[in-house]
Amino acid sequence: MKHFISMRDIGKQEILELLALAEKIETGKIKPDLSPYLGALLFFEPSTRTHFSFDTAIKKLNGKSFSISGTGSTSVKKGETLADTLKTISQYADYIVMRHSIEGAARFASEILEIPVINAGDGTNQHPTQAMLDLYSIRKTQGTLENLHIALIGDLRLGRTVHSLVQALHEFNPTFYFAAPRHLKMPAYIIDELKEKNIPFYEVEDIKEILPKLDILYVTRIQKERFAVLEDYEKVKDAYIITAGLLENVKPNFKVLHPLPRVNEITTDVDKTPYAYYFQQAKNGVPVRQAIITKLLQLA
Ligand code: CP
Repeated sequence: MKHFISMRDIGKQEILELLALAEKIETGKIKPDLSPYLGALLFFEPSTRTHFSFDTAIKKLNGKSFSISGTGSTSVKKGETLADTLKTISQYADYIVMRHSIEGAARFASEILEIPVINAGDGTNQHPTQAMLDLYSIRKTQGTLENLHIALIGDLRLGRTVHSLVQALHEFNPTFYFAAPRHLKMPAYIIDELKEKNIPFYEVEDIKEILPKLDILYVTRIQKERFAVLEDYEKVKDAYIITAGLLENVKPNFKVLHPLPRVNEITTDVDKTPYAYYFQQAKNGVPVRQAIITKLLQLA
């Protein structure tokens, strides 16, 4: 594993090895030493969790980092190309973590650079480190990744986390339920992959009917910033809102996950229920990202 770009690039065995490594780091069984390494955190798109959990992950293992947030303070503003920016930064850093609005930007970076590249989100395409922390969270709460009933709701077309998560679960015998507004349904290529692999999935409108069957409800935000026409966003922004009252008949092991940020798709009364797991999920990003960096630097 030289780069970490897409969940399509790694299989079940590598996923389980990374999760095991994250667990060893989190429980203090091992503490990789990142002190010789400098990470470049290039966030050309906004981020709270991914940016700061990578930085936390690095610093807690005594590593060093420098960051870009947006392009305002860089020579991209003067017209420098992404390729030249990346090649320059790779002269300083030992690895790059990159978020960019263009689908394929991280893959492009991995093809032109000699140092490891980690995809921290590329447009509407992939968010593989989020998928890994989602798997870690699912396994922590369910005790397994196998044979689970998982619903993904909200913006399934423009929200990249769901694409990575569905692909990440391919080999764990899942049953999926998808609920999304008409123009925000799961992309055809994700659906086609499920059909090819005979993975059961159901496209539903009313999530009330399926809630009692679920182990995991993965809620996503409607991606306002990716709409060309604001009125189109206004029409769908409240399509699915999870309230505590909706969760009366769920299974005892049931959990609500959300990659965050949330806007109004989970009301704050859910936070007090035993089903809310989204803030712990964000916390799980630290050991998982430590494991990914450790693996790419071949320290374990
Ligand atoms: N989950 C996630 O990617 O959050 P941020 O956009 O805050 O990094």
